[in-house]
Amino acid sequence: MGARGVFITIEGADGCGKSTQAALLEARLVACGLEVVRLREPGGTAISEKVRALLLDPANAEMSPECELLLYEASRAQLTRQVIEPALARGAVVLCDRYYDSTYAYQAGGRGLDETLVRQSNVLGSCGRVPDRTLVLDLDPATAFARATSGGADRMEAEGLAFQRRVRAAYLRLAAEEPARVRVVDASGEKDEVLGRLLAACADLWDLRG
Ligand code: TYD
Repeated sequence: MGARGVFITIEGADGCGKSTQAALLEARLVACGLEVVRLREPGGTAISEKVRALLLDPANAEMSPECELLLYEASRAQLTRQVIEPALARGAVVLCDRYYDSTYAYQAGGRGLDETLVRQSNVLGSCGRVPDRTLVLDLDPATAFARATSGGADRMEAEGLAFQRRVRAAYLRLAAEEPARVRVVDASGEKDEVLGRLLAACADLWDLRG
């Protein structure tokens, strides 16, 4: 193991199958003998989980977009300092289900908050930490939305399909802007097929290890 770990984030609109794929990817990397720290955002520390509950509670319908943005960043800053940085320092692979690109996609793309402001907030919330690779799972928005809301909708999902389309468009913009870091992966088909695509999209990363 090198002195520095590898930081991978998994992104996508609600219902794209991210959580399933994160679990499969973790299992594959662990089988290769790697230490993997799998996290999800918002959450991952005691403080961040409390912030998560505030963010997703449908009862908080009056939450302003600015409050929402800052809560996602607050949750992220705690996770970054408390868990992500120490894990990377000891050489682990950190696999994070969502990170600051979600904030760009949802708060700038979905909500329409000013992009520059969101990007600046992301620098603060991530404590300047940039993922080595960001895998965006891409699925037809109508299919993904139906899947995400089949068991009821949280506060974000309650925004509807048009919101999810804007989220997807924002992810595609990011991938065009930062092709070395952000890779779009087709999330349709069998789970193993999708996993194969994800592994291919981060295969070069293992050269980063010392
Ligand atoms: P979650 O139930 O974890 O959804 P998923 O399994 O799709 O990740 O809820 C997280 C929700 O929060 C999801 O709708 C995306 C949204 N979100 C933002 O709007 N901004 C952010 O910065 C993050 C991390 C998540």
